[in-house]
Amino acid sequence: MSGGDYGNWTYSEYLNLNELLALQGEDRGVSADEMHFIIVHQTFELWFKQVIKELSEVRDILGQVPVPEDEIPRAVEHLGRTTEIFRLMANQWTVLETLTPQGFLAFRDGLGSASGFESYQMREFEILLGLEDADRIGGMDPLETFRRMAKRGEEHREVLAKLEDASSRPSLAESLMLWVERTPIMGSVFGSDNDQESVMQYVDSHLEAHKGICDAASGSSEMMAARMKASHESAISFLKPDGVPSRMRAGLLFIESYRELPLLAWPRKLIDAIVELEESMVKWRHSHARMVERIMGRRIGTGGTSGVDYLDATSEYRIFKDLWAVRTILVKPQMRPELVNSEFYGYHSTNE
Ligand code: HEM
Repeated sequence: MSGGDYGNWTYSEYLNLNELLALQGEDRGVSADEMHFIIVHQTFELWFKQVIKELSEVRDILGQVPVPEDEIPRAVEHLGRTTEIFRLMANQWTVLETLTPQGFLAFRDGLGSASGFESYQMREFEILLGLEDADRIGGMDPLETFRRMAKRGEEHREVLAKLEDASSRPSLAESLMLWVERTPIMGSVFGSDNDQESVMQYVDSHLEAHKGICDAASGSSEMMAARMKASHESAISFLKPDGVPSRMRAGLLFIESYRELPLLAWPRKLIDAIVELEESMVKWRHSHARMVERIMGRRIGTGGTSGVDYLDATSEYRIFKDLWAVRTILVKPQMRPELVNSEFYGYHSTNE
């Protein structure tokens, strides 16, 4: 911190304002258009920094075994703030849209090969969340760009080391699913003697209800019958990927199906917060693509990708795939398997 002791500093000292405000290209005599381009990017990068901080906290909370229950509300708060940051960033593209295509072309060549594609903070939070290389376009290894850049000097090597460190840790998605796997299902505790049997019973009775719904809907036409058959088959392969129930997915299904149970209130809130976060990220990616299409059409990007097509393809990314997929196989509350051991969840249903 420049000048001032703790508690005795001025506004600009506390915020390092003089340093911060010397970084917008005035030394190069940039135009108003270009300064705005730089400021919008810097603003995003500052928010990315906060996103990494918030999500690292969540990853650390969920990485504990067992996850202390009283820390879950804090994880939900960090996720909620991250979602708001993405919503804010999604709206910031409109500021960039005041840049005309000609106005952008006037300084675009000066960017060389610099591109948001090289935003290492973006890669860090993607890795931290758990976006897998195999799910990226062309199975791209996100560290590749940074390995190449590491040859340019120490600063770049530090970036690479940070990304390698993030890649070597369990991601938020992995920790989340390990936590979900330990959800008590129909009162059966993970790892207990009859747990496998209870989970199997639960999954089978859910699938039976699912089949009932599919059968009822298939009567109208052959096409519908084929669709419903496929829908039921995919429910089976989701819940029993290797012929036996996936306890993670069964846990997720249980939380989503019995959302009203008091004991499941925080797990449900945590899952909702993650779904909301991913949705806000997808919308943010989507609005980036629309902004780019408006400003530079379908040109290739300075980072060498196909441009808008590439960006549109990234908005198909889903990190928390099971959280989305489980929605497809839910059944209406009246059809779900009857809850057993309801007292375990702190809930006494009226039909007892
Ligand atoms: C006129 C403004 C902008 C244009 C025309 C533009 C264009 C592009 C294009 C074409 C790409 C694809 C990669 C490439 O080949 O270059 C890209 C990627 C990216 N841009 Fe922008 N962008 C703009 C503003 C921004 C801003 C303000 C940010 C904020 C940091 C940003 C962040 C990113 C990121 C993180 C990627 C990588 C996306 C990914 O790989 O998933 N862009 N941009």
